[in-house]
Amino acid sequence: MCGIVGYIGNKNSVPILIEGLKRLEYRGYDSAGLGIIADNKCTIVKRKGKVSELELSLKEHPISAPLGIAHTRWATHGEPNQINAHPHTNSSGKLFLVHNGIIENYNVLKTELQRNGYEFYSETDTEVLVKLIDSFLQKKLELSEAVRYALNEVKGTYGIAVGYSDEPDKIVVAKKGSPLVLGVGDGENFIASDVNALIAHTSRVVYLEDGEIAVVYKDRFEAKTIEDEQIKKEIHEVTVALEEISKGEFPHFMLKEIMEQPHSVKNSFRGRLLFEEGSSKLGGLQGYEERIARSKRILICACGTSWHAGLVGEYMLEQYTGIPTEVEYASEFRYRNPIITTDDTCIFISQSGETADTLAAMKEAKRRGALVLGVCNVVGSSIARESEAGVYIHAGPEIGVASTKAFTSQLIVLALITILIARRRHLSLIDGQTIIRELDLIPGKIAEILEKNEEIKTIAQDFINAKNFLYLGRGYNFPVALEGALKLKEISYIHAEGYPAAEMKHGPIALIDENMPSVFITPMDSVYDKVISNIEEVKARKGKIIAIASKHDDKIDNLVDYSIRVPETIRMLMPILTAIPLQLLAYHIAVGKGLNVDQPRNLAKSVTVE
Ligand code: M6R
Repeated sequence: MCGIVGYIGNKNSVPILIEGLKRLEYRGYDSAGLGIIADNKCTIVKRKGKVSELELSLKEHPISAPLGIAHTRWATHGEPNQINAHPHTNSSGKLFLVHNGIIENYNVLKTELQRNGYEFYSETDTEVLVKLIDSFLQKKLELSEAVRYALNEVKGTYGIAVGYSDEPDKIVVAKKGSPLVLGVGDGENFIASDVNALIAHTSRVVYLEDGEIAVVYKDRFEAKTIEDEQIKKEIHEVTVALEEISKGEFPHFMLKEIMEQPHSVKNSFRGRLLFEEGSSKLGGLQGYEERIARSKRILICACGTSWHAGLVGEYMLEQYTGIPTEVEYASEFRYRNPIITTDDTCIFISQSGETADTLAAMKEAKRRGALVLGVCNVVGSSIARESEAGVYIHAGPEIGVASTKAFTSQLIVLALITILIARRRHLSLIDGQTIIRELDLIPGKIAEILEKNEEIKTIAQDFINAKNFLYLGRGYNFPVALEGALKLKEISYIHAEGYPAAEMKHGPIALIDENMPSVFITPMDSVYDKVISNIEEVKARKGKIIAIASKHDDKIDNLVDYSIRVPETIRMLMPILTAIPLQLLAYHIAVGKGLNVDQPRNLAKSVTVE
């Protein structure tokens, strides 16, 4: 949720930290701060609000130091204000710490520290951690040992970075449940909670694993476990280019990412389509195909947009493989007693690969002996590393908080997994070849839809003042209705609900009047006539209707107020096309309302806390 960045070397750390924070701001943006050590003295600067507020105050009062750590926050404990912003310090101000995650036993620890004379100035769990480390420093331990001892008392999750002016040659970092990466430079080293903050400086990274601590000097680093075992860490090369994490000519990352979809979707299936065999090739599943094909059940677990992708996956897998498939919210799965057997295949879908609930659900499924697969975007992310096997969606970095291109790429990968397994079961060569050919045509069809951007913008203007919206679809397009509603509510703050179109008459129809617009996703498929009946029901009650309809549907315009046309494809791939006008509609409504679509209120890009 929050972002951490740090630097140690010979340069001034401050501009490096600010630039890194800006790249991480999508992870949390209610307050920001940094701590530096220069000439054995610490300076802490914190501001409420965006990184630009912090930057402004540093322009007015410039500081400089070869060591610094910084943080952009998404509040969990205590309101977003300057006092609760990170870094947090001990009472002498010599020790400072930034933290992502949640210290679950902070109340117990706080009471104990208070009993020993510690006073607290903030409402955060993080201040408890810095004071706990201080209590071990008081016992004359070195910083890394004090951190290690403190972490052994902590329950919860953390990615931390700690500076101490009595040991000004190092930053100590540790990880459990929240990502932390080291960037290896030449005579300088970096730390971050996300490789995006590092790639402007180095492509050589080291991923810390849960329960690991690293002491980072300017020319080396040492790693150990919190049980004090020395460990050797591997250096990885990352291949993300700087342009991929910049907005370029677009006003928002969200629009850039929507517009990238012909390309991102192509990257998701590049080199993976087997035209002659009517199948797919997924290197990450090599050796596991038979086990998946023999599964008695497939369980898909995810959150938010990734969960919607999972619902589409359920339709695909059941239609083509015949394997019973269920989709679960990861947050629910982890807290019940799920019936999982060694005959199950569990697929965990996550753009970021860091979502705390999805990661925890994955660990539980693994513990119960299921085959655990990851479908992630971020290479080297926790879910990708924890899974037994898996498939990257290769959508490229997604920075906008509202997930767009990751959704369509997740659907491509789910289609590829479906066809791979279905061909090992009973899908015919001809049917397999048809799916592969249709997949190959998808980028061109997306490009055709994106040409309607201005048309969709015009429609959006008529709905800027709407207070509620209904999204309705059936079959493969029911999850698209849910996704369309989520896109609208998260960036425009308009209340929106997605429903299976036929369920409307069991309740939601009571809401319909001239002030309740409905979006119907109604391509010309096997349930088309039934959805048309639902449209008639809304029309009869004077509801305004926007239809996402097939290009060749010559009937729809007589029934609805607005229609946005999409090209046709086979049913299983239709959601990849129908989702796109809904992304644009939400985007233009939110922009029309003057909202910050890339950083909607109360949200953060990756939810690394429960
Ligand atoms: O990174 P993940 O795919 O695991 O994230 C899951 C959800 O937090 C995410 O999809 C969220 O719902 C998005 N803001 C939706 O646009």
